Amino acid sequence: MPLNTLSARYAAVRQHTLKLSAPLSAEDQCVQSMPDTSPTKWHLAHTSWFFENVVLLPYLPGYQVFDEAFAYLFNSYYEALGPRHPRPQRGLLTRPALSQVLAFREHVNAAMQQLLLNESKLSGEALALIELGLNHEQQHQELLLTDALHLLSCNPLLPAYDAHFKHANASHAELQWLSFDEGLRTLGRAVDATGFAFDNESPAHQRFVQGFQIANRLVNCGEYLAFIQDGGYDNADLWLSEGRAQVLQNDWQCPLYWLAPQDPRAPSEQWQVFGLNGVQPLNLQAPVANLSFYEASAFAQWAGARLPTEFEWEVASTHTEIQDTHAQVWQWTRSAYEPYPGFVPASGAVREYNGKFMVGQQVLRGSSLATSSQHSRHTYRNFFPAHARWQFSGLRLAKDL
Ligand SMILES: [Fe+2]
Repeated sequence: MPLNTLSARYAAVRQHTLKLSAPLSAEDQCVQSMPDTSPTKWHLAHTSWFFENVVLLPYLPGYQVFDEAFAYLFNSYYEALGPRHPRPQRGLLTRPALSQVLAFREHVNAAMQQLLLNESKLSGEALALIELGLNHEQQHQELLLTDALHLLSCNPLLPAYDAHFKHANASHAELQWLSFDEGLRTLGRAVDATGFAFDNESPAHQRFVQGFQIANRLVNCGEYLAFIQDGGYDNADLWLSEGRAQVLQNDWQCPLYWLAPQDPRAPSEQWQVFGLNGVQPLNLQAPVANLSFYEASAFAQWAGARLPTEFEWEVASTHTEIQDTHAQVWQWTRSAYEPYPGFVPASGAVREYNGKFMVGQQVLRGSSLATSSQHSRHTYRNFFPAHARWQFSGLRLAKDL
């Protein structure tokens, strides 16, 4: 089967999700470590639920649902598709067993391949929803990894997800400031551009961007360690009020997965970091990750700089000298997650995909080492609440010109 068919791409994306779950035991796959995360088993089921409800039921005549109860168990947040199991209680779903969830995946895959046999006869609307389903699955692939890392970090044994899992690249580049003149810029993605994009990336629109400077590289662990050793977490002048409250309430002293010297879980004279590849010595040249927006903001203040807006980031993203825009860490921006001028949500049930979350969240740009390949774009807008730390989220500095 040629790899460029939708059928082959569907099979490859679905298979990759299973590959990511393979290092985890059945017990690992059932547990939910905090309300923000979901069990692996739930990700495996929910992505299948998406195809069943958004693609198969509307577009495959005679499709038989695998289990009527799954509509309630594995709907995430779609009001239009009925009531759902509470998100913080996903870890209580010891039933269905993992084996049943895997059988559900196979049932959905077989039906999807039946539908895709007649790809040329499918409507543009159906094809768009299948494409959305694949990109949705890729988003959950990253969440599967970040959620698994959080789960494993709660285990005092600090087990590695995969001792050979890739880590972020160390950069030995000197910090340089790239300058951009003020001007009217075209940002976002044209509605009729070819290739997939989420609705929140459109429409393309014009925006006046003041002159600015942006760092050619990401902030690294060595720089962040200097901030810690300079008393950054205790210096109230550096922090937004909400951030300061989070520091005090949660006793934040370092990024989420850093282990201070002499941490009893993995004693060492040195700082270490827990990642998907287990406990490793802190690499001072690697990008700092697993920061909240508040920590990124405080660091930038300490460094005499600021976070870029998402518009500055996008303008700078194609500069020939900018490094590591993608596949290392998501980069917090100073931009609230808002609709672009002229934003129109996708229609049907998937109108709930992005638009209804456009309040109380910050935009992150780029992509991380956990982002699936073919899932990065310069117009991509990720978003999380300012306190979120369990994603591979870091920062790049900016300044006014
Ligand atoms: Fe989802």
